[in-house]
Amino acid sequence: MKVINIGICGLGTVGYGSYSVLKSNSRDIARRVGAEVKVTHIGARRLRPGQDIGSIKKSSDVFAVVNDPGVHIVLELMGGTDVAKELVLKAIENGKHVVTANKALIAQYGNEIFAAAAAKNVMVAYEASVAGGIPIIKAIREGLAGNSIQWLAGIINGTGNFILTEMREKSRAFADVLKEAQALGYAEADPTFDIEGIDAAHKLTILASIAFGIPLQFPKTYTEGISKLTQEDIKYADELGYRIKHLGISRKTPNGIELRVHPTLLDADSIIANVNGVMNAVMVNGDAVGSTLYYGAGAGAGPTASAVVADIIDVARMISHPESSVPSLAFQDDSLSDMPILPMSEVISEYYLRILAADKPGVLSDITEILGDRAISIQAIIQKEPRVDDVNQRVPVIILTREVRESVMDEAISSIEALDPKGEKVMRIRVFKLDQ
Ligand code: HSE
Repeated sequence: MKVINIGICGLGTVGYGSYSVLKSNSRDIARRVGAEVKVTHIGARRLRPGQDIGSIKKSSDVFAVVNDPGVHIVLELMGGTDVAKELVLKAIENGKHVVTANKALIAQYGNEIFAAAAAKNVMVAYEASVAGGIPIIKAIREGLAGNSIQWLAGIINGTGNFILTEMREKSRAFADVLKEAQALGYAEADPTFDIEGIDAAHKLTILASIAFGIPLQFPKTYTEGISKLTQEDIKYADELGYRIKHLGISRKTPNGIELRVHPTLLDADSIIANVNGVMNAVMVNGDAVGSTLYYGAGAGAGPTASAVVADIIDVARMISHPESSVPSLAFQDDSLSDMPILPMSEVISEYYLRILAADKPGVLSDITEILGDRAISIQAIIQKEPRVDDVNQRVPVIILTREVRESVMDEAISSIEALDPKGEKVMRIRVFKLDQ
């Protein structure tokens, strides 16, 4: 199998996160790419406590990575714009593809970098630069390519959203929450970038360019931060039925394109007003599709690495299978798995049961005995008044169970229905926990 070599420059939160995802998902990545994707060289001044890169070559000079003839794809995950720009341009000059998470670099120097990449026929991929793990670049550039985009608006800074959420929900002080966001690895090296809207402006610049087909124009973005907002503003907005969110907004108007980042009042019932914590969300409106919404974690090692690795896979597929870089079923044809589909009878779930039980002594204990005999544990049970229109005066019994296999629940339901053959069928609704 062909091997595609990755050089990582920068081993901070995102660099090590990407290294870890490449390692832990290496099998599936190879199946998707049709080649082995291997980290062969890491450029970082030092390893942080707890970081383990095995026997992979490490250089303290990141330029050793871009000058390594064996490296096919360079990951620029250092942040900053001075050395990062020089490094990316050098990688391109050396004919290497680049994957970066650096929004400041793309927003400020993207025009020059993309021109250099086009001249050398290499790719510069930057999905991780906007909204962390949400594949918003791909969604706009590919999924919505049939539309004329009308506007987009989003919460694109996790740190700022985390601060506003904690201030509103827990009345915490601004500085205190910011410190926590820094400790969690969400905030920029200079956190004023987060709270003054500069980070969001970098991201909005990128989104507007791909949405409207305009060059990157970061200096023209209007930027207003959240540092002047007080608890009172948040409280008064609440009383009026609004939430305050730090939004990046870009809209096409007959006179030009709006490009603005500022605190914004949003109807408290709107979906985006209820995006909380470090989560990001971007709404994109296209003339054909209408409004669409993209939601997910906007910062942190795993989510950002998810986007970095997706870019690596894109580039690696192009290198390994230039004739058809994206396989029809996402994995290469010869790598499709024969993993079986689980029969419904083997699915494990919690259940809501609505039983219309005869209103006579012992019925409830018969039902609980049927469940108990099959080790089905009950989380909650409620008996309601009989329905007014029920001539038989049966009583609805609602039961919420703990997890059980579907086949066992099937048996239990048959037995419950057998208690009252003339009664109604048991209503069964499966519970699905979104965080499973
Ligand atoms: N500081 C950024 C944020 C990191 O909080 O969203 C992800 O770009």
